Amino acid sequence: MKWSKYVKPYWKYFVLGPLCMIVEVLGEVLMPKWYSRILNIGIENHDVGFIVLTCLLMVLTALLMMGGGVGGAWFGSKAAVNFAGDLRRDVYAKVQQFSFANIDKYSTGSLVTRLTNDVTQLMNFVNMLLRMFLRAPGMMIGALIMAISMNPSLARVLAVTIPLIALAEVLIIRAGFPRFGAMQEKMDHLNSTIQESLTNIRVVKSFVREKHEDEKFARSNQALKDAAMRALGVVIFMMPMMMLLMNLTSVAVTWFGGRQVIAGTMPLGDFNAFLTYITQILMSLMMMSMLFMNSSRALASSRRIREVMEEEIDLPDEHAAHRDALVTRGEVEFRNVSFRYYKNSENKVLDDISLHIDAGETVGVIGSTGCGKSTLVSMIPRLYDADEGSVLVDGIDVKDYSLYNLREGVGMVLQKNVLFSGTIADNLRWGDERATDEEMAEAARSAQADGFIRSFAEGYETELEQGGVNVSGGQRQRLCIARALLKRPKILILDDSTSAVDTATEASIREAFRNELRDATKIIIAQRITSVMEADKIIVMDDGAVTGIGTHEELLAGNSAYQEIYHSQMDGKKEAV
Ligand SMILES: Nc1ncnc2c1ncn2[C@@H]1O[C@H](COP(=O)(O)OP(=O)(O)O)[C@@H](O)[C@H]1O
Ligand SMILES: [Mg+2]
Repeated sequence: MKWSKYVKPYWKYFVLGPLCMIVEVLGEVLMPKWYSRILNIGIENHDVGFIVLTCLLMVLTALLMMGGGVGGAWFGSKAAVNFAGDLRRDVYAKVQQFSFANIDKYSTGSLVTRLTNDVTQLMNFVNMLLRMFLRAPGMMIGALIMAISMNPSLARVLAVTIPLIALAEVLIIRAGFPRFGAMQEKMDHLNSTIQESLTNIRVVKSFVREKHEDEKFARSNQALKDAAMRALGVVIFMMPMMMLLMNLTSVAVTWFGGRQVIAGTMPLGDFNAFLTYITQILMSLMMMSMLFMNSSRALASSRRIREVMEEEIDLPDEHAAHRDALVTRGEVEFRNVSFRYYKNSENKVLDDISLHIDAGETVGVIGSTGCGKSTLVSMIPRLYDADEGSVLVDGIDVKDYSLYNLREGVGMVLQKNVLFSGTIADNLRWGDERATDEEMAEAARSAQADGFIRSFAEGYETELEQGGVNVSGGQRQRLCIARALLKRPKILILDDSTSAVDTATEASIREAFRNELRDATKIIIAQRITSVMEADKIIVMDDGAVTGIGTHEELLAGNSAYQEIYHSQMDGKKEAV
């Protein structure tokens, strides 16, 4: 990734900021000199005119310095804020492109930290850099030149102290670098912990696991505290140590300089100015070490952002052979498809699956949990790509469609479906932004949702709090189905999407599908055998493989797994009747 992309549009701010700081530095270095001249010449000779003139010059300089300081801070902030804004925008856009497999790699908490904390860290660093990177060396060089030209023999003191201070700084920075890196990592972990526990707070409460979550949080928090303390421990040393070296230098200058003043070889004004220059040199050294220290944190952040930005999107569609193809009929074919989530693991989640689904068919998929049903159907809209073999829709490999066209043609209600904050109508219109109220109501009627939506006081304008906590599980499922229906997909996939809906309502949904979605291919994953019994064909899965395909009657006659599921679910009922 190129960082220059975030600098170029704002290059003026990036140049003007440091330039303004140079104005300030020039003033800082000149002021002590003029002050010493007032002492040496003006006061010594009782020359009031000279004093007034120099004072005026100093006031003017002070005003210029203020202008420089404000300008530097203003341009620096402008540059940093815009830099960070653009960076955040791009990282967010990148994450939006992530495939399911990419998302599996990062925790949500970690992505949030990168988008917020890490970007802010970089923003602060850019801001600091622009203010300091010319100012600190500028002040150092300016003050050094003034000090040496004023009194070369006294300046020799610096030949001893500057290397000492530099050495101390190198040691501190070397200790600080890895510790700040470690601190960042702990911060990441803490954010992930908080994210997970807050997102799932309802589950936490229903299992009365608050204490457990508290402890988990406390551990993360303690780890961050320890890491922070270790990192800050280094900084704690820095200031006082610098102060000590600074004071010792001042004492040395006072000692040697004082003797020169007594001997009459150094004017008192020079002595004063010299002490100021010494302070400036040490200050600039300190600024530089702060800059280095912050750069270690910025480096850690930039690595983490770079990692996201350089993450390879594993579902590219730039090379799709049929970019303009649309899903028109809804025929699906699996040819020897194999898949595993962890590429280095032995167990295949899908193992050499071949099957064919005609356009317009209703297909049921049944099998024990974890046998790969969700994984199987996720291959159709390319939520994941097959490792081996191919999936074809209307005779075209799904990899040859543009992702947009493919997913426009395939409506999928995920097993873990969610709604978003906003009104019910907003949520349904995810399927089709331009849908009319009537179309929306029609989709809702097919999904058996219209009735309960109208029973709400606000109807379709009812606000869904936090993604639907104020509707029941079965209602949420029906809203999700309606949302998918509004897309008018050629292939509709329901992944266990009626599990929380009562059997009578579910039967009405099936009835509606039969009448109103006659052309669409319908793939229905279900736990209840009654949900799939009437399908044109039923796919029976076991441990990543298809063990049978056929109608209810065929499977009941010849497929032992299907018989087992059937009897386990139906025998009890018959006895009850
Ligand atoms: N995102 C994922 N990352 C890793 N493993 C997964 C993921 N999703 C599912 N699995 C694993 O793949 C297997 C099949 O899962 P799934 O297709 O969801 O089964 P089903 O829908 O039939 O219950 C399970 O063993 C599950 O643990
Ligand atoms: Mg599933």
